[in-house]
Amino acid sequence: MSGAGLPLRGIQTFVRRSSSLTQQQHQGRQLYGQWLLTDVRRLCSEDVFANTQPLTLEIGFGMGQSLIAMAEAEPERNFIGIEVHRPGLAQVCYEAGRRQLSNLRILEGDALQHLRQYGVAASLDRLQLFFPDPWPKKRHHKRRLVNAENVAFLHTYLRPGGVFHMATDWEPYAQWMLEVMSQAPAYVNLAADGGFHPRPAYRPLTKFEKRGLDSGHGIWDLLFARQD
Ligand SMILES: C[S@@+](CC[C@H](N)C(=O)[O-])C[C@H]1O[C@@H](n2cnc3c(N)ncnc32)[C@H](O)[C@@H]1O
Repeated sequence: MSGAGLPLRGIQTFVRRSSSLTQQQHQGRQLYGQWLLTDVRRLCSEDVFANTQPLTLEIGFGMGQSLIAMAEAEPERNFIGIEVHRPGLAQVCYEAGRRQLSNLRILEGDALQHLRQYGVAASLDRLQLFFPDPWPKKRHHKRRLVNAENVAFLHTYLRPGGVFHMATDWEPYAQWMLEVMSQAPAYVNLAADGGFHPRPAYRPLTKFEKRGLDSGHGIWDLLFARQD
């Protein structure tokens, strides 16, 4: 931890991949002004959406199909997605534009850095981390987004009772998440047996989940609420 109680900078939880954009994604880039937040002051519903609807923040939405599906299905909630992958950012702008989703905005870059800069304490009703990079090699475990330091940091952005929802298809990471979250102060596991949670109806199938299922993997959801 830094002196201010914030996670130390430097370890990236992602790899920036350069990929060319499809035609739809080029069109999506033209819509950045509408959907991509560039002049953020504070990440909260009041500042971003000018209303008080509950706010969901998704870290690492990939190509964003599930984020779009959730924003469309739950117009009474606001959604902010953060991603570093440019084709995904452009694709979400394209899809949000087609559907005119006024309850969705996205941010480009490292979610942990954005939260450090613009996060507002207790502003999130739900924090989503779906199929994060599992970093399976032992020497890469330090790059896993779920670790004791990060989950303590993320806790402060949840409102009391707000939920941190994780899902993964990588069993060793699922067990790691359960151990980290079970030991993290001031979170309570919403699974009745203190283990994994049944998949909530609001979570659509994601691209990486489908990939995992196609490879014969299981799926593990974890829901932990901020206790105080
Ligand atoms: C394995 S993919 C999963 C994508 C999507 N959630 C899904 O289930 O299809 C993980 C994504 O998280 C993004 N990511 C990882 N760390 C991130 C961070 N610190 N901030 C923003 N995005 C991040 C990566 O760029 C990648 O697109």
